[in-house]
Amino acid sequence: MANAQMKRIPGKPAAATGRKRKSGSAESEAAAPAKKQPKIVRLTATDLAEKQREISVSEFFTKNRHLLGFDSPAKALLTTVKEAVDNALDACEEAGILPDLLLEIQEISETRYRIAVQDNGPGIVKAQIPKIFGQLLYGSKFHRLRQSRGQQGIGISAAGMYGQLTTGKPITVISRIGAGKPAHKFDIQIDTRRNAPVVVADHEVEWTPQHGTRVELEIEATYKKGRHSVDGYVEQTAMANPHAQITYVAPTGERTELPRVAAELPKPPQEIKPHPHGVELGILLKMLHDTKAKNLRGFLTSEFSRVSPAVAEEIAGTAGLSAGMTTQKAAREQAEALYKAIQATKLMAPPSNVLSPIGEELLLEGLKKQIDARFYAATSRSPSVYRGNPFLVEAAIAFGGEHLPADEPITLIRFANRVPLLYQQSACAVTKSVIQTNWKAYGIQQSRGALPLGPMIVMVHIASVWVPFTSESKEAVASYPEIMKDIKLALQDVGRKLGIFIRRGLREADAEKKRSYIEKYIPHIGIALQEILAISDKEKDKVCATLKDTLERSRKL
Ligand SMILES: Nc1ncnc2c1ncn2[C@@H]1O[C@H](COP(=O)(O)OP(=O)(O)OP(=O)(O)O)[C@@H](O)[C@H]1O
Ligand SMILES: [Mg+2]
Repeated sequence: MANAQMKRIPGKPAAATGRKRKSGSAESEAAAPAKKQPKIVRLTATDLAEKQREISVSEFFTKNRHLLGFDSPAKALLTTVKEAVDNALDACEEAGILPDLLLEIQEISETRYRIAVQDNGPGIVKAQIPKIFGQLLYGSKFHRLRQSRGQQGIGISAAGMYGQLTTGKPITVISRIGAGKPAHKFDIQIDTRRNAPVVVADHEVEWTPQHGTRVELEIEATYKKGRHSVDGYVEQTAMANPHAQITYVAPTGERTELPRVAAELPKPPQEIKPHPHGVELGILLKMLHDTKAKNLRGFLTSEFSRVSPAVAEEIAGTAGLSAGMTTQKAAREQAEALYKAIQATKLMAPPSNVLSPIGEELLLEGLKKQIDARFYAATSRSPSVYRGNPFLVEAAIAFGGEHLPADEPITLIRFANRVPLLYQQSACAVTKSVIQTNWKAYGIQQSRGALPLGPMIVMVHIASVWVPFTSESKEAVASYPEIMKDIKLALQDVGRKLGIFIRRGLREADAEKKRSYIEKYIPHIGIALQEILAISDKEKDKVCATLKDTLERSRKL
C-alpha cells in the first residue's frame, strides 16, 4: 500500500472507532495486554483523485477473464476453440460458402496446447487483421440485429489475450481474400494498457488455399476427453451445423472426419432494424442524437422496424411532438414522452421470417447420426419476440435403447444460434424450462425441481437476432419469460409424441407378460385335457400346437 498517502486522523485515539465492544468483564479487559490497534487512515478526495484513472477494456477482462470463459485450463481450451470455430462458420455462411473447417490441437506439454482453426471463408482484408485479433470490442456483428454465432466483438481477441498472458506467444493469423491476392501472415499481440494491437511480424507467404483464414494460438490449457470437452463440442457442432464439414485432429493425434449431412447452406438470416417496443429510454436518447434522419418522422421510419409514416405521425401525436421536429435537439423530457408514446402505440410484431432454424428434418438426422436410440421426435416452432427481438425455439429428443442409461438424469444438449453451450447448465433458461416441464405426464420419472430421469437425450436450440446471454462468455441464456414459455411449449410438443410411444410400449410389454405366462402353461393344459377327455398323444400335441400358434399370431398383431 502507498503509505505515503495514508494519513492518521489527528487527535483521534485509535480505539474510538465507533465499533461495538465485545461484552466482557471490566477486569478481564483491564488485565488483557493492550492490543495494537490498526492505524485508522482517511484519504482526501485529492488523494483518491491521484489514483483514479481510466481502465481499458483489455485490462478489465485480463482481471476478469472468467467472464469470458477462461476461468480454468480445461475451459480455456474449449473457449478458444469455440471462438475460432464460431468465427470461421460465421464468415463462411456470410460469404455464402459451404464451410470446410480444419481444427488441429497439438499438445506442447500437459498444460500447454497449440490450437489451429482453418476455414475456407472469404478471408480478412489485410488492414483489418491487427484490430480484429489485437483489440477487444472490435467486430462486424455488434451493431446489427442478425442471427449469427458472434455478436460482441470480443471473442477471438480475448482468446489471443489469454494466450499472450499464459504463454507469452502472439496469435498467428494467415489469411487470403482471393486467388489473385497474396496470403498474409501476421503475429499479433495486444497492448492491454491501450487495448490496441501490436504487430510483431507481418509477411506475405505462400499458402495453397485460394481464400480463407487460419488462426493459431498457444495457450495454457488442459485436455480431457468427454462430453464437456472439445471432443463433445465438435460432435455437437456437427449436429447443429449439418452443412459444415469438419476435420478434427485431437491432441492424441486421432483424426476425425465429420462429413456434411446437408449439401446446401441454411437459409441466410436477415438483418433487421430494432423494434420500437424493445428499445430502452437511454438507447432511444442516443439514437435520437446519432441519427442521420432530418426529422422525427424520418427517424422513426428509418431506424426502426414496423413504423410506417402514418404510425410515426401517430407516435409523434401521442407524445405531443411535431413529426417534423429535428431529432438532435430533442430534450430528455421530449425523449421520455416519445418513449411513453411508443409503448402506448399498437405496433405489428417484428418481422419473424428473418431467422434461420435447423429444421425438424435435420434435427432428427443429426440426432440419429450421433445416438442409437429407439424413439426420436423433433419440433421447430414459429418465431416469437422478447424485448423486441425475434427468436425461435427448436427441440428434439432421442429415447430408449441400450446406449442411453436408464436410471440417470437425462442428457441435455443446448444450442444458441447453432453453437453448443457446454458450461453453466444450471444457470440457463433451457435447463430451467426442462426442469419446469411436467415429464411425468409423458411417462418419464422426475423429482420436483430436478432434471427428469431416464434413457433420454433432450436437445434444445434457440435462434435469435440477439441471444440474451447471462455473461460475455456466452454459456447460458437469460431467463426471459417469453423465451422460457416457448422452450416449454417445444418440450411439451416432443414430450407428447414420446408419451404416445411410451404408453404403447407399456401396453405391449403388459400383453407380452401375459402371453409368456400362457405359453408356460400350454403343456400343462395339454396334459390336463388328455386326462379329462382321454385323447391320444397325437391329439394332445395338436391342441398344444394350435394354442401356441394362436399365441404367436397375437404377437404379430
Ligand atoms: N475467420 C474469419 N474470417 C473472416 N472474418 C473473421 C474471422 N474471424 C473473425 N472475423 C471478423 O472479426 C470480427 C471480430 O471477431 P470476434 O470473434 O472478436 O467478435 P465477433 O465474432 O464479432 O463477436 P463475439 O465476441 O461474440 O465472438 C468478426 O465480427 C468478423 O467480422
Ligand atoms: Mg466471434
